[in-house]
Amino acid sequence: MSQLKGVILAGGTASRLNPLTKVTNKHLLPVGRVPMIYHPIKKLKDVGIEHILIVTGVNHMGDVVSLLGSGKDFGCKFTYKVQDEAGGIAQALALAENFAGSSPITVILGDNIFEDNLESHKTAFIENGTGAHIVLKEVSDPHRFGVAEIGGEKVISIEEKPTHPKTNLAVTGIYFYDNRVYDIIRKLQPSERGEYEISDVNNHYIAMQQMSFSRMQGWWSDAGTFESLARVQSLVMEAPPQ
Ligand code: DAU
Repeated sequence: MSQLKGVILAGGTASRLNPLTKVTNKHLLPVGRVPMIYHPIKKLKDVGIEHILIVTGVNHMGDVVSLLGSGKDFGCKFTYKVQDEAGGIAQALALAENFAGSSPITVILGDNIFEDNLESHKTAFIENGTGAHIVLKEVSDPHRFGVAEIGGEKVISIEEKPTHPKTNLAVTGIYFYDNRVYDIIRKLQPSERGEYEISDVNNHYIAMQQMSFSRMQGWWSDAGTFESLARVQSLVMEAPPQ
């Protein structure tokens, strides 16, 4: 398998955080002592992933580049791509095709903050050789997330924000894909909410029997609502990510 590259998805409208996100991008808001986006960058760097694509929207790309630059200060090499409209996570991911070339990718949603080092999850993906790998975490509010049903070592299905979740296993925003992911995205139709859904991508891999999973050991949260942003702040201060 050729070398893993990293992708951080930092687009979207973040309307749930208005007015905090009226004039800035969610991923530039503070989490602990640093802007939110520093956390996923560190997670990738910690496992030796230095080539990182950052996808964000038109409105705040200038600020994101001003903050992060070439990556020199982080010991990384950053590439940037603009997502013209917030058409969904899978649409944002499609922009990684040329950057990735033949390399597999590790994708982190820019508002996912977590404690685990990614090494064991990365190893689990690499040992498979191909396909996709997701990271699951038990949560008390699964209806807010993609929810996985598992049977033994297999993922059976993923439902995006179900009203009646079958399990309490949230699909975290940390994904590993081989380079078939772009062909899969090209086949997708937008969901009822008008977005190209990452859960649809994952269900394609499940249908091909090419999906594995591991479990997040430490704490994990998104930071896309006022409640989760506040939770992340205290988690980061009490037990800083490893
Ligand atoms: O946090 C994990 C969850 O993230 C998963 O369990 C869900 O399956 C997945 O759909 C996603 O759910 P959310 O509804 O919380 O995603 P949200 O729209 O908040 O977007 C999460 C990040 O993805 C956001 O911080 C930036 C990026 N994004 C999102 C959209 C819609 C983009 O880069 N472009 C986009 O168009």
